[in-house]
Amino acid sequence: MHRVVFLGPPGAGKGTQAAQLARELGIPHLSTGDLLRAAVAARTPLGLEAEDHMRAGRLVPDDLVLRILHERLEQSDARVGYLLDGFPRNLAQAEALSKFAELDAVISFDISPDLLVRRLSERRLCPKCQSVYNLSSKPPRVPDRCDADGSSLVQRPDDRPEAVTTRLKVYAEQTAPLLDYYRKRHLLRQIDASGSPDEVAARLRRALA
Ligand code: AP5
Repeated sequence: MHRVVFLGPPGAGKGTQAAQLARELGIPHLSTGDLLRAAVAARTPLGLEAEDHMRAGRLVPDDLVLRILHERLEQSDARVGYLLDGFPRNLAQAEALSKFAELDAVISFDISPDLLVRRLSERRLCPKCQSVYNLSSKPPRVPDRCDADGSSLVQRPDDRPEAVTTRLKVYAEQTAPLLDYYRKRHLLRQIDASGSPDEVAARLRRALA
């Protein structure tokens, strides 16, 4: 059973690595960011409440995020394990999680702020199938078009510079204290998240071996 948390600042490459690792391990990749973006796109009451917080780069209130994650963890595919990407993000969420889910490892993605800003400014997303691209490290075959379905690629609203500044501040103030929280619980494993996706993938597998 693999019950893993990915912890790391915005743009560290958590989503990129999580999709591949979850496939390999046969466990669901549960990204609270993806779940919230789906709720926003579907215009659900929860999505409408979350939207302004996300656009500005602030955390969505804990009760909303906990509701959406708890419901997802109850689905049958999560019985064999799960990879939590972007949750928990503060001490209150970590405490809440400890009451309804067990963890085997928490992976921290360590990376310099300069590299994060660059990766986020160059990220593009397919609004239809959610494929993630990067203008430098993973460009689409045809400029601005999704390789899978040809849709016009977009920039996430929270990847604009003002929101990125807020997200980095929120990470430092609210999420980074979780490193100590999980270190004290002997769950923390830190990896260098710079370098190519393949290099990071290799470090990740060593950390989980
Ligand atoms: P969320 O979607 O979780 O965003 P995030 O944590 O800020 O992380 P990102 O998705 O920006 O980055 P990533 O680390 O996944 O990087 P990626 O692999 O895409 O959250 C968004 C918002 O939702 C939050 O701000 C908040 O409002 C809300 N939210 C979510 N969870 C919440 C919670 N628990 N509580 C409250 N609110 C919550 O890579 C980035 C780019 O770099 C891509 O272009 C990629 O192709 C490229 N790249 C990846 N790896 C490499 C590499 N090794 N080399 C070169 N390029 C690379």
